[in-house]
Amino acid sequence: MPNFNPVKIVIVGCGMIAEVGYQPRCQAYPQKIELIGYYDQDINRAKLLAEKDGGKVYQSLDEVLNDPSVEGIINLTIHTGHYPVSLAGLKAGKHVYSEKPVALRVEEADEMIETADQMGVKFACAPVAMLGYVQQSVWKRIRGGEIGEVVSAMGNFGGPLEYWHPNADLFMMKGVGPFKDVAPYPLTAMTTMIGPVKQVYGLAQITIPERMLHAGNRAGNKYKVSEKDHGIGLLEFENGAYGLLYHSWTARSELPAYEIHGTKGCFSIQAHDDGRGIRKSTPMGGWENEDSPKKAYTGLDWGKGPSDFADAIRHDRPVRCSGKHARHVLEICERVFEAADKGVPIEVKSRFPAPIPVGDPTPWD
Ligand SMILES: NC(=O)c1ccc[n+]([C@@H]2O[C@H](COP(=O)([O-])OP(=O)(O)OC[C@H]3O[C@@H](n4cnc5c(N)ncnc54)[C@H](O)[C@@H]3O)[C@@H](O)[C@H]2O)c1
Repeated sequence: MPNFNPVKIVIVGCGMIAEVGYQPRCQAYPQKIELIGYYDQDINRAKLLAEKDGGKVYQSLDEVLNDPSVEGIINLTIHTGHYPVSLAGLKAGKHVYSEKPVALRVEEADEMIETADQMGVKFACAPVAMLGYVQQSVWKRIRGGEIGEVVSAMGNFGGPLEYWHPNADLFMMKGVGPFKDVAPYPLTAMTTMIGPVKQVYGLAQITIPERMLHAGNRAGNKYKVSEKDHGIGLLEFENGAYGLLYHSWTARSELPAYEIHGTKGCFSIQAHDDGRGIRKSTPMGGWENEDSPKKAYTGLDWGKGPSDFADAIRHDRPVRCSGKHARHVLEICERVFEAADKGVPIEVKSRFPAPIPVGDPTPWD
């Protein structure tokens, strides 16, 4: 896009996903984003990323937030860091883009949303897989009535994390767990395509209370699991549709990652990934494979969300992946565990502005 001044951004939290996801994919959209620096509480991790592209290594979060040349931060710290780092960024008047979950408690998300509104800054949150060409094209076809009235959706994601993630123990701490970590993928897709959830039912428990890390330089370390690591959520959407969520750090299920069902057909796609094709079922034909749209990116394109964030900052328009939407997703996860504890259905109170479909040109063109 001519005359677009790229937004100057610092990555805070320079671990696995910063290195393999955000840094390379943000660099794929230099017309929108300029990564000007890195900060991590482990300074060596920030140095590693800065060595790859010459950005500045910040020595503290305060140094980032006091730097007037920084317009926004991308918060890629671990779950417990999302709220304190994002809130500090918003209070400092910086635009903030966070990895999911937006926070660990709904009250924390409320405070950040209020702060962003008061400060007049953008507050965006992953997951942004809904920006994928597969997801956008399926959503458009649903809006056009191709599968009739949507009656249900389901999502599945998980598996034994400690076998591949070097910090899997942090994902199993009290307050985190598989719902807040991976349910945001199908839930963001469902709530975009269907609308808000009004009530949930839940079953969840700790199934493997003590585990061992198998990856990274702490491999061999045992740790205690202090949050429910296995569960099922049932959802009632405001429009009457039903939802099913299956998320576990214990079992790796072959249930589809994301399905959406209508009175005239169903779609099956990835909720955390673009480009791996579309399956569609019709009442007459059963399930058939379709090609992905031509531009679909194979894998998750971590740069599209920050590009939309940058575009929203420059044009002062709402972000597509909003903190308010992420709060609704977080509340559903929180309520599923509460429903499991209490053995009763629980109401979901928060609502969010309907996300805006991606047009042509896209915000990353
Ligand atoms: N790894 C994945 O496949 C993946 C995928 C999607 C989303 N995410 C999300 O991205 C986030 C980061 O995941 P990851 O896998 O990169 O974790 P990670 O443990 O590899 O990296 C997190 C980094 O944040 C730093 N950090 C933690 N708290 C900090 C703070 N307060 N200030 C500054 N730095 C801090 C840590 O030192 C570490 O380098 C998580 O919230 C996760 O949900 C991860």
